[in-house]
This record gives sequence, C-alpha cells and structure tokens, in this order.
Amino acid sequence: MKVEDIKKIAVMGAGDMGHGIAEVALLAGYKVAMRDIEQRFIDKGFARIKDSLDKLVEKKKVTEEDKTKMLSNLQTFIDIAESVKDADFVVEAVPEIMDVKKQVFQALDAAAPKHAILASNTSTMSITEIASATKRPSQVVGMHFFNPPVLMKLVEVIKGKKTSDPTMQLTYDLALKMNKVPVRIEKDSPGFIYNRITAPTHILLGLLLERGLATPEEIDARMKKAGAPMGPYELLDYIGLDVLYHISRNFSDRLSRDHEPPKWLKAKVDAGELGKKTGKGIYDWSKGRPEIDLSKAKEDFDPNVLTALQVNEATKLLEEGVVKSPEDIDKAMVNGGGVAAGPFQLANEIGYDKLAKMCEELAKKFNVKVFEPTKTLKSGRPPYVPPPLPKEFF
Ligand code: CAA
Repeated sequence: MKVEDIKKIAVMGAGDMGHGIAEVALLAGYKVAMRDIEQRFIDKGFARIKDSLDKLVEKKKVTEEDKTKMLSNLQTFIDIAESVKDADFVVEAVPEIMDVKKQVFQALDAAAPKHAILASNTSTMSITEIASATKRPSQVVGMHFFNPPVLMKLVEVIKGKKTSDPTMQLTYDLALKMNKVPVRIEKDSPGFIYNRITAPTHILLGLLLERGLATPEEIDARMKKAGAPMGPYELLDYIGLDVLYHISRNFSDRLSRDHEPPKWLKAKVDAGELGKKTGKGIYDWSKGRPEIDLSKAKEDFDPNVLTALQVNEATKLLEEGVVKSPEDIDKAMVNGGGVAAGPFQLANEIGYDKLAKMCEELAKKFNVKVFEPTKTLKSGRPPYVPPPLPKEFF
C-alpha cells in the first residue's frame, strides 16, 4: 500500500488524544471512523472536534464549507469491529495500560482489512509487545502525536522489532500528509524521544513539590518568564496526571526505579484529580487555564537546571543507539513541545561543562542516579554543532 491508497483512517478512543488525532486526519481530507466504549465519550470527543474546527474557521484557517465537509466525513462507533472493517490505517489512542492495548490490538487484527496498518499512539510502551497481540506484527508501528494534536507538529514514528520498512515509510508519509513533522525512531525504547528526555525533569519537579522546596506557581512563573509556552507543572496538568503516572510507572519498570511515581502523584490520581480533564489537578482548571502570577517567580531557580537534565538524557539516547542523529532530537523537542530551541542547541550556548556540573550536583543533592552526567556530557564534546540561535531568542 502507498500513502495515496489510504482513504479511511480509524481512531480508537475519543479522549484528549483520540479526538485530536481524528481531527488531524479530517483536516488532511480523510474519511474518519472514531470509536470509543461509551456514547458519552464519543459525544464529548465529537463536540471538541466541532469546537476546535469552529476556532479554525474563526481564524480563517478553514472555511465554513470545509468544516461541514469534514464533519460529514466523520463517523462514530462503539462497536470496534464495525469501526475498522473498511479502514486502511488505524491509530489506537486508548489508556496506557498494556493489557487494554493488547485486547484492542487483538480485536483490530481480527476485524481490520488484511492490508490495514495498525498504529499505536502510546507515549512510552513497547511497540514490539503491543504487536505481539496480532498476527501482523510487520504492519504494527508507533505513531505518537503530541497534545494538542491539532497544534503540535511532532509525530514520532516508532519501529517495533518486527515492523517492516514499508510500514515505517507509509506511516512517515502519512504524518507528512497530515502536515506534521515526523521523526523516525529505529529502536523500540521506553518513551522514544520526547517523553524519555523530559522524564528526569519530572523526577525533579516531583522532588521540589514533595520536599516543599518550591511551589508549582513559583516554578511555572519562572519558566514562563524564561519563554516557556506553559509552566512545567501546568503542562503536567494539561497532559493529565494519570498519563504522567502511567509513563512514570512504565519507566520505573523498564529504565530505573528513580522514575517510580511519587506519593503526591499517586494521591492525586487516586483522588481523581487528573488536571485539565477533571477540572482539578495541581491547579484548579474549573474556570479554564490557571492564571499564573509572574510576580511569584522563584528568581533563584535556574531554568538551565531543566535543560541540563534534558541534554543529559538526550546524550543517553545517542549512547544507546535509540536515535542516530542529534539533529533529530532537537527537531523532535522543538516540534513536540512548542519551544524555540532543542536541548543540543541550548547546550551549545550554555556550555557542556556547566551542564555536566549541574547534573553532578543534582544527582548528589537528591541522590538520583538518573541525574548523573553521561560520558558524552562529561567529555564536553558536543554530538553536533548547531547553528547559533538568533539574537531574538535571548
Ligand atoms: N484547536 C484549535 N485551536 C486551538 C486549540 C485546539 N485544540 N487549542 C488552542 N487553540 C488556539 C487558541 O484558541 C489560541 O488561538 P488565538 O491565538 O487565536 O487566541 C491559540 O491556539 C493559542 O492558545 P492559547 O492562547 O490558549 O494558549 P497558548 O498560546 O499558550 O497556546 C499551546 C496553547 C499551543 C497548547 C501552548 O501553550 C503550548 O505549546 N504548550 C505546550 C504544549 C506541549 O508541550 N505539548 C506536549 C505535551 S507532551 C505530550 O503530549 C506527549 C505525551 O505523550 C504525554
């Protein structure tokens, strides 16, 4: 199958990611089947697609006519077999629980046409393991979108052990057709690029909170003043504390116990305070996005500390052979997080020795092995030398 042969895309799940991926596919001109387990989830997903398209009409990015056509291209289902029976490409965006993913993939394998590609939007899980639930592992691939899918450009395209090259290429080409920036990940490794690189910063944010060393607002205000589109705690609420919990669990099992979900996070998840989606998380979202008072910024918190942890983790991806090109890492981080520069671009400006020292100090202070600087970071030799950042950046 070639990308031109894809006519219909089925999306499993109508939640934060599912409805957004369905909308991205509609915007690219595809017929879309969106499936969830209950009508109320489907209704909510449908309403969110409509609201988002309304915004795009308001901004004149989409015409009223196009919007009507896109909505008529969208079918919704509860029955999984019905939803995929004539799909050419399926994207799964169900909760991050391996048994649930496997059940869904088994059902997809049984009902989708033989030629259909089955993609998972998992944030961290093994594509190889998900594919093992099917009889077509060469046609199973990772296709990881970022929240909100309509606005964030990055799509990580992940190769499981048995994913074929034509499946990788087709998924890459489909992401391009969807007006996204795809990055290939050749080795099925926890968290791929973006979530792996941000994971150590989540450990630090948890420690600051748990030890009362800073409030979320103090750090978020500081980071927003430094140019972040969202404060890091606000972003955790935005992606969902349940999602963060599952990601941390997965890393704890597969990478290091340092990632074990902290007590405060488990308490929030147990209380159903999941962030934006439930109206309460670290912040109160009942009246919309939290207003962060920039005057509360903790001025003695150095934003470079978060950069140091990200650069260090990025060098691990190179050392482990998960990603071959450091440029791809910068490209992924810029397009996944809506920031102006990637970790290696920033490291080039700050200096590798300074960042290595920061990691060393953080590892000692918090007794976290994941923070320890890698050989590459300590060597002080950049994996590549990016062009200097424009003056406006500073
Ligand atoms: N559809 C259409 N338009 C939308 C929209 C949507 N779903 N969501 C927001 N917008 C529009 C808003 O209406 C607004 O339009 P105007 O400028 O015309 O008013 C515009 O986008 C900007 O939105 P906001 O004013 O609300 O706020 P903002 O300027 O901060 O932008 C944001 C919002 C793009 C989300 C930005 O804050 C951002 O880039 N945040 C970081 C997001 C990020 O890092 N995502 C990755 C998370 S990690 C992940 O997803 C991986 C995983 O596996 C967990």
